[in-house]
Amino acid sequence: MFADTKKLLLKAQQGKYAIAHFNINNLEIVQGVVQAAMKLKAPIILATSEGALKYAGMNYLYALAKIASEQANVPLALHLDHGKDLDLIKQAIQKGYSSVMIDASHQKFEKNITLTKHVVALAHKKGISVEAELGTIGGAEDLVSSRNIIYTDPEKAKEFVDRTGCDFLAVAIGTSHGAYKFKSHANLQLGILGRIQSKVKVPLVLHGASGVPSALVSVAQKYGADLSGVKGVPDSQIKKAIMGGITKINTDTDLRIAFDAAVRKALHTKPAEFDPRHMLAPARDLIQKVAEQRIRLFGSIGKG
Ligand code: G3H
Ligand code: 13P
Ligand code: ZN
Repeated sequence: MFADTKKLLLKAQQGKYAIAHFNINNLEIVQGVVQAAMKLKAPIILATSEGALKYAGMNYLYALAKIASEQANVPLALHLDHGKDLDLIKQAIQKGYSSVMIDASHQKFEKNITLTKHVVALAHKKGISVEAELGTIGGAEDLVSSRNIIYTDPEKAKEFVDRTGCDFLAVAIGTSHGAYKFKSHANLQLGILGRIQSKVKVPLVLHGASGVPSALVSVAQKYGADLSGVKGVPDSQIKKAIMGGITKINTDTDLRIAFDAAVRKALHTKPAEFDPRHMLAPARDLIQKVAEQRIRLFGSIGKG
């Protein structure tokens, strides 16, 4: 029913484009990103973080993704993002996710290998692929945080993939989670990415890659948001990262800002409105627009 994440990524690796991973937390986000995928005939990955599962519950988010994949005319995969809790990872495997991420990047190298190997063994038994992480992506969100960026070591990355058997690898090359990514500006380490790509053959994943577009931020700010100092990864650097071998790109923050901007605008411009549908439909529409921009940027348009 769900698309096979590994197959999508291997095809993207061949074609030198990236598949969009969108974090989902509720109905409007699912519908917004899926409408974008359908309009552009692009395969996408719907991803639930531990925070999303805590908020909405795995059964609800799984059901939303399942209905979407049954109705969509494009491949949709379902992925567990930043899995740290082994019980939750096991639940996702049992439930029938397409892929799971084991994020043991905060652990020492050997411990990261042990935990990742364990999850690979569990997931592969069920035909589910595994994303792992080496190095440290910066920034902070609800349940995913780390203050310092530690770049992925290319030699260690090869050893890590060889020893764990993970199917794709999230690399730390200077990106950062959330809306406050950089003190000055983005400076992705494309040299490190090139060295990783020359040694590691599995698809590579870029987290913390939102663009935090100023047009969106301005709308949110116009209607009262306090977002001073936010900064994202410019499109030009994303394009270079895709040319450098990135085949899966995670976006959450841009969807959040779209949601925030649209809801604020709706509440502000229609103060007499109290129907939640009239607050949330504009959010769904703006999320679709942002998701379309990401898909176009990643080059996955028409690949579904
Ligand atoms: O990379 C993390 C995702 O954006 C999820 O963040 O833990 O706030 O749901 P969250
Ligand atoms: P952003 O915060 O840049 O959207 O990154 C999301 C992410 O990496 C989810 O795993
Ligand atoms: Zn992430």
